Amino acid sequence: MASSSSSLAFSLSLLLALILCFSPTQSYKTIGKGYRLVSIEESPDGGFIGYLQVKQKNKIYGSDITTLRLFVKHETDSRLRVHITDAKQQRWEVPYNLLPREQPPQVGKVIGKSRKSPITVQEISGSELIFSYTTDPFTFAVKRRSNHETLFNTTSSLVFKDQYLEISTSLPKEASLYGLGENSQANGIKLVPNEPYTLYTEDVSAINLNTDLYGSHPMYMDLRNVGGKAYAHAVLLLNSNGMDVFYRGDSLTYKVIGGVFDFYFIAGPSPLNVVDQYTQLIGRPAPMPYWSLGFHQCRWGYHNLSVVEDVVDNYKKAKIPLDVIWNDDDHMDGHKDFTLNPVAYPRAKLLAFLDKIHKIGMKYIVINDPGIGVNASYGTFQRAMAADVFIKYEGKPFLAQVWPGPVYFPDFLNPKTVSWWGDEIKRFHDLVPIDGLWIDMNEVSNFCSGLCTIPEGKQCPSGEGPGWVCCLDCKNITKTRWDDPPYKINATGVVAPVGFKTIATSATHYNGVREYDAHSIYGFSETIATHKGLLNVQGKRPFILSRSTFVGSGQYAAHWTGDNQGTWQSLQVSISTMLNFGIFGVPMVGSDICGFYPQPTEELCNRWIEVGAFYPFSRDHANYYSPRQELYQWDTVADSARNALGMRYKILPFLYTLNYEAHMTGAPIARPLFFSFPEYTECYGNSRQFLLGSSLMISPVLEQGKTEVEALFPPGSWYHMFDMTQAVVSKNGKRVTLPAPLNFVNVHLYQNTILPMQQGGLISKDARTTPFSLVIAFPAGASEGYATGKLYLDEDELPEMKLGNGQSTYVDFYASVGNGTMKMWSQVKEGKFALSKGWVIEKVSVLGLRGAGQVSEIQINGSPMTKKIEVSSKEHTYVIGLEDEEENKSVMVE
Ligand code: NOJ
Repeated sequence: MASSSSSLAFSLSLLLALILCFSPTQSYKTIGKGYRLVSIEESPDGGFIGYLQVKQKNKIYGSDITTLRLFVKHETDSRLRVHITDAKQQRWEVPYNLLPREQPPQVGKVIGKSRKSPITVQEISGSELIFSYTTDPFTFAVKRRSNHETLFNTTSSLVFKDQYLEISTSLPKEASLYGLGENSQANGIKLVPNEPYTLYTEDVSAINLNTDLYGSHPMYMDLRNVGGKAYAHAVLLLNSNGMDVFYRGDSLTYKVIGGVFDFYFIAGPSPLNVVDQYTQLIGRPAPMPYWSLGFHQCRWGYHNLSVVEDVVDNYKKAKIPLDVIWNDDDHMDGHKDFTLNPVAYPRAKLLAFLDKIHKIGMKYIVINDPGIGVNASYGTFQRAMAADVFIKYEGKPFLAQVWPGPVYFPDFLNPKTVSWWGDEIKRFHDLVPIDGLWIDMNEVSNFCSGLCTIPEGKQCPSGEGPGWVCCLDCKNITKTRWDDPPYKINATGVVAPVGFKTIATSATHYNGVREYDAHSIYGFSETIATHKGLLNVQGKRPFILSRSTFVGSGQYAAHWTGDNQGTWQSLQVSISTMLNFGIFGVPMVGSDICGFYPQPTEELCNRWIEVGAFYPFSRDHANYYSPRQELYQWDTVADSARNALGMRYKILPFLYTLNYEAHMTGAPIARPLFFSFPEYTECYGNSRQFLLGSSLMISPVLEQGKTEVEALFPPGSWYHMFDMTQAVVSKNGKRVTLPAPLNFVNVHLYQNTILPMQQGGLISKDARTTPFSLVIAFPAGASEGYATGKLYLDEDELPEMKLGNGQSTYVDFYASVGNGTMKMWSQVKEGKFALSKGWVIEKVSVLGLRGAGQVSEIQINGSPMTKKIEVSSKEHTYVIGLEDEEENKSVMVE
């Protein structure tokens, strides 16, 4: 939630700081002369260890660290790590228990005998990535072996101080960069030169474009077309401290206020290879339960249970699919976590309601904030105090303010906190059988800044409704260099102090860890604790939605893009943010459909559901003060929803298979076009369309008043999914203006694809039991062609999603056409999970044939079809009914 506006005095000082620290004319000259490499040798574990000596110290942003230790290792064939830290003292790093990875050798220990390196360029070779360096000054480069491209090249000197680290790389102008978030970029998915990319988790509403937002992902993908061939690689700087990343088109500079340089270079070379190798390092995306791919309805301000019941009924009446109903903090007693408001949400009635919706397969999720109300009669608070779980400032819990008023924040780096939190989740689950948890405000958000006390004799917060004005008595904390670091990042887009509206950065976590260092992993650590808690309680695949994320969060949670606006611009931005999160390894992502605030127009809400129906995570959510915006509130929106969500519910098996692929290989569910067409440079900056998987393209209307959409079609044949008769075909790709009346969204299927579909329904549980159909798309009019597809199904509440556990099914589909014969066959890799009647395919639609005469025989799994082919033929579309084809009906698992 965006907090109250700053005071005038504060704004003026920020403005000054902005001019001083972040004017466009800011010089990017490196301070200092860098380091000299004095030794390098192979370490026993197969890496290389070198030592760097500072050449000349200076005091700008603090004193330089005299000796650094360099550790270089080709960790896999496609991953190179370059780790640089203080050679003598352990420094803060992203904890190895939160993000498991190989530990570099301990600092302070010199491994083997150091030797002087010759002052010439040398190389350390891996199979695809080559690390080369110069010794005086020390610079390094990473090259790709197969095409000799330089991927990273630290042309300027390295700076390494306690609170300021700087390194730059040159970049070729033709490189297209993606990532470095969370940041809502008005300009789309491709990074824009001379825009600041500041990474520091902040509760700055997502309406603020081009500023640091809720998550921190210091990773970018670099896509280059070298002589007509595309190569992608990625660079991760694994560091949780605040940083500014300056991208200037031909170079990129990191300015980081702590931690170490821990670079991972990921070789690719395709975008899909990149996300595979990246998520192999940071953790594969979490498997999601089937129902979570259904539609979700939420809002802040469902004042009592009857309203919620009414919403569920209205969805049913309007025949709009709905799987999950959510509560924001309205169900709580005084906004306190793990409580129920006895008047508005009486437990007995809530349980009866949940029983009713659970019986039909619907689910219920509630919000949870990290701030625990300071209230001596509140059980959760009492148990937390007894277990001593809070973040401390000068030995006492750090006082902040969020919705319940004064709060303390649990320290999820402390194992005791994780146990206490798990226990609270269990107690709450015993009270209300929730199906998932929504963890919000975990950047962490605080309505106050500084050292605060509860005002004596005053009610805090006072008044009705959710107040976000700070009501504590607070004074600025500036006494330590953690509160006022020498280099000011561009936090909140205005160079706010690092402790602004969050925890004071000199506050301490478990084991003396400073908030200064751990700030951006707060939400991540809470996500891990919540995942553990839910898994213990339910024994099922957990569903968690987290606002704040860090590298690795996708292993545990889904993400929504926070407080957007009911504006056309927010609708547009939602696409690039979603696509970025796919690259960050958090593929289950979506934005508040129709916008969080202010209220959307009817037309916007129409268009939004047409996009949102294809977000991996599809939820309508609104602010406390917004008018109601459930999809049935307007007749036209209800029509658009039935149409777009109707399609979503038919392709649920495909979405679920994408969820499986994401979990196995990191492949995003929603992808930029360049993932499938990396050679087609036209699509590199496209943020107005996206793909689901590799071949289903959504081309929505994103502007007011439009009834047409100009869409880019990469080379090949694309078939209209709603009306399978139309195709867009091109050899080299083209732009096409498509009709797009209000209730209609353009969705196209690419050639060579077999898309498994079902009949849809109003709840995913029912949709899942309907017969299958296959859509087979051949290249339009080709005399020969092929198509493939796949399908994964399982007992979706099992914690693990994998083959080989005896409860899953995986089928590969193949089809070919040529010489008058069309063949379709399937290979069941594993067939352990099925309905009692088996999985039945009752219909196959074939797209792209030249005419009925092209095929005189159809074979299914090697046997000719005995039935006369009843072809309900529109142009180029052949629908083959299999209903009474006993032998061939069930081509899948029985
Ligand atoms: C901020 C969240 O971003 C928003 O979605 C939620 O409604 C409010 N907090 C209230 O809990």
